[in-house]
Amino acid sequence: MTSAAHVGSNLNAMDKFMSNGHNHLHVQDKHVFPPGERPDMSQVCHSYTFPVIDLKDLDAPHRINVINDISQACEEDGFFQIINHGVPETVMKSMMGIAKEFFEMPVEDSVCFHSEDPRQAVRVTTSFNVTKDELFDWRDYLTHPCHPLEEFINSWPQKPALYRDVAGKYAKEIRVLVLRLLAAISEALGQDSDYLNAMFGKHIQMLHINYYPACPNPDLTFGAAPHSDPGGITVSMQGDVSGLQVLKDGKWFAVEPIPNAFVVNVADQIEVISNGRFKSAEHWGITNTTTARISIPTFYGPSSDAFIAPVASMVDEEHPALHRGYKFEEYMKAFWSQGLKGKSILDRFKIEISP
Ligand code: OGA
Ligand code: NI
Repeated sequence: MTSAAHVGSNLNAMDKFMSNGHNHLHVQDKHVFPPGERPDMSQVCHSYTFPVIDLKDLDAPHRINVINDISQACEEDGFFQIINHGVPETVMKSMMGIAKEFFEMPVEDSVCFHSEDPRQAVRVTTSFNVTKDELFDWRDYLTHPCHPLEEFINSWPQKPALYRDVAGKYAKEIRVLVLRLLAAISEALGQDSDYLNAMFGKHIQMLHINYYPACPNPDLTFGAAPHSDPGGITVSMQGDVSGLQVLKDGKWFAVEPIPNAFVVNVADQIEVISNGRFKSAEHWGITNTTTARISIPTFYGPSSDAFIAPVASMVDEEHPALHRGYKFEEYMKAFWSQGLKGKSILDRFKIEISP
């Protein structure tokens, strides 16, 4: 591409970002979900508290109690919050601060990372998967791989100036935390603590920064349309603005932020591996009229060559295998082949049980 053409395509891209200062002033038709598919705020329950699990004793003699709590939360809710998780508050605060700076800097400074191609590892884009989305989410996001750190850090944004330093420290801490959670979940599945670590192969750790500008009419659109997460587990920093809601027993429940806690959720691969015992719950993000919201999920899961299948200990005559085994890259190909649509991807891997 000539440099003039490049500048042209960047200008074009800038105009697509929600964070560019004018796109979020009115709700354009492309963001308006049909009645019946919108977030019905009047039906969302705010009085239920998802389990809050204290990880203080995870490496202590009472480990089994914490594992039981995690097991129960994965089974009944698919979502829980964790406290005493070991990630320093300063690291969390700096990460949230730099994320905010990233989306508040002029879009000219981030547009060089714009790409609509999900194969592009480091990228900024809008909605979810704009070449496939039928309607657009009210968000921009930055995403990039984090593990192994040395392999990827030099491809991350350099503006704001401290981005690599801050996000690198955050990613390292999150990985330590995730490995402890994977060991706990392996044990909750009745396996050796290394089970998921080994199954995930080389591992993939994706840091994601969701930026949801304030929206003039949050009833019409989604920050993030209903979906379940694709990887193994997701560990999210929610900041202090609520917006995450989760489907449980057919009803939507708000996950209210707890200062310095992380939200953890089971994603599709752990649902498959646990043979449906642990729930990869459907969830969505909503916007509000007054405050931009930032959430920072880390999607952690298997590398593309890993083979995912139900663990033998969860399969018996009474609990036949619900999904066939597959290479993770097959799942991801399906994931990027459409917009966000509830739990429709996992359905493709279901084993038909004859009546
Ligand atoms: C996601 C997601 C919800 C949120 O990015 O997968 O579910 O709280 N986001 O921002
Ligand atoms: Ni999600």
